[in-house]
Amino acid sequence: MKLLSGLPVCAALVPLVFAQTELPPIPADLTTPVQQRLAFNGPMSMRIGWSTFQQLEQPTVYFGESPHAIFRSASSQSSTTYPTSRTWSNTVTLTMLKPYTTYYYKIVSTNSTIGSFKTARPAGDHTPFTMAGVVDMGVFGPDGLSTRQMSYTGKAIVNSLNPGDHTTIQALAATASQYEFILHPGDFAYADAWLSELNLGYINGTQAQGPQIYEGLLEQFLLRLTYLYTRYAGSKAYMVTAGNHESNCLNGKSPGEASCPIGQTNFTGFINRYAELMPETPSTILGHRPRFDTGLEGVYMKARAAAASTSGALPPFWYSFDYGMVHYLMFDTETDFGNGIIAPDEVGGGAADSDGPFGSYMNQQIDFIERDLAAVDRSVTPWVIAAGHRPWYVDSGACTTCQEAFEPLLIKHGVDVAYFGHVHNMQRLGPLANNTKDPRGYNNPSAPVYLVNGAAGHFEGLDLMTTPDQLPNYGIEWANNGTLYGYNLFKFLDRNHLEIQFVSSKDGDVLNSVTLFKKH
Ligand SMILES: *[C@@H]1O[C@H](CO)[C@@H](O)[C@H](O)[C@H]1NC(C)=O
Ligand SMILES: *[C@@H]1O[C@H](CO)[C@@H](O)[C@H](O)[C@H]1NC(C)=O
Ligand SMILES: *[C@@H]1O[C@H](CO)[C@@H](O)[C@H](O)[C@H]1NC(C)=O
Ligand SMILES: *[C@@H]1O[C@H](CO)[C@@H](O)[C@H](O)[C@H]1NC(C)=O
Ligand SMILES: *[C@@H]1O[C@H](CO)[C@@H](O)[C@H](O)[C@H]1NC(C)=O
Repeated sequence: MKLLSGLPVCAALVPLVFAQTELPPIPADLTTPVQQRLAFNGPMSMRIGWSTFQQLEQPTVYFGESPHAIFRSASSQSSTTYPTSRTWSNTVTLTMLKPYTTYYYKIVSTNSTIGSFKTARPAGDHTPFTMAGVVDMGVFGPDGLSTRQMSYTGKAIVNSLNPGDHTTIQALAATASQYEFILHPGDFAYADAWLSELNLGYINGTQAQGPQIYEGLLEQFLLRLTYLYTRYAGSKAYMVTAGNHESNCLNGKSPGEASCPIGQTNFTGFINRYAELMPETPSTILGHRPRFDTGLEGVYMKARAAAASTSGALPPFWYSFDYGMVHYLMFDTETDFGNGIIAPDEVGGGAADSDGPFGSYMNQQIDFIERDLAAVDRSVTPWVIAAGHRPWYVDSGACTTCQEAFEPLLIKHGVDVAYFGHVHNMQRLGPLANNTKDPRGYNNPSAPVYLVNGAAGHFEGLDLMTTPDQLPNYGIEWANNGTLYGYNLFKFLDRNHLEIQFVSSKDGDVLNSVTLFKKH
């Protein structure tokens, strides 16, 4: 099925442009909102995030139910930056909204336009809906992905995009009316690949300019998402958690100070843009937050204070939210495993980074997940989806410490689907528990179904899978072996049926579809 064909909006999309990695221009009007971001904060509240090339005294958004009546306003004092950033991150929380209602908004600036969004469906609304999922999505050129990418052993050298094909960002833009929001569990932009790109001559510059190049790539990625938001179907909430590329000093393949701009270490750029934006708990409807100091420490401290006083959630790393018939748990496979298990990005972890921990105590994330999943009322939200970055069921490179830390909780609380990326192809696995297939398959299993889809497209290219004789014995139901960029659509049909699709970004072909039945 060609989802994209016949959509007039496609014609308006700019065709794929080849690598052109320059710093995005600084607008003459420094109040111009760039890098827009949106998140649900319960069904009656929305968070709007954007960046500016100057600090704002009081970031403000006007809003209302008609584009001609945007008379209500919300403000904050949240305008923060970090040493290597060119921009300040601003976040405002709109409250007292109606659930599942379209609002129009204008970020206060002498150079902004009116946008729109729809608030979340309240928990317990069992109307069918579709959600889009992407993982591992990067940027090079103005349209999201160039045809140039790194090639090294184990990676598919072939880039499946030809000029005119849609990148994943373009596909999500062109089809935005077909889904209600986007889930992205980790790995944004791949700006940490700047040194490799420089060494390959894909970027002009010197290594000393690394911090600017890194920030420029990060900005470009978010600019393309803004383009998605503002040019096509109104803004979509974009719910995120961390991946290793939000903090990955060694990805330049040359360890050392120069390959690690500050924004790239310890999730700094990610925290700056998303800590204020993601919700603390599913039940948070009042979003007013205390003033805090600018600078990173303020962000950490505020997030911690919020976490301590509520559920133990620590957005943007671990938190949860409800949407209609679904409870979403977002969790952090990079740090904070608790119970003495060393997480991959921590000191001593496999990634050779030394990041986090972020919790106020080591078991904060695990305790949060336990409490959060135990509190789900399945009559209200029959479906439970857990999303993190590093998979443990995958053809190779499984995160066994992640499995040790999280799988028991997912099994115990009957999580329906666990969603990951990190490995750059699409693999769908039958329901699994303890490395064993649930004999019921997709017909009311008790174990979670596992999806790995790091195929959104980015500089590192797609991963080839191991040879069939090396595949793990629990089996893979369906895979796209490093040949196509794509994303997932999750179609929640009713309380018992969930259709999961893998869609090819370039042309909208639905390459795989399966329906999971749960009695719930
Ligand atoms: C106003 O914003 C647009 C993009 O939103 C930008 O292209 C333009 O340069 C901005 N104008 C000024 C004067 O900064
Ligand atoms: C690098 O700069 C040269 C000279 O200005 C230009 O011709 C070339 O296209 C640039 N390359 C990239 C990758 O931007
Ligand atoms: C990373 O951030 C956390 C939380 O603020 C902090 O405890 C830790 O020391 C930082 N790690 C490094 C290496 O800066
Ligand atoms: C998984 O295996 C562990 C140890 O082998 C066992 O304690 C646990 O009960 C098993 N869980 C399930 C759901 O089979
Ligand atoms: C994936 O493709 C590569 C390259 O063609 C091949 O070597 C490998 O066996 C394939 N793996 C599977 C599981 O088909």
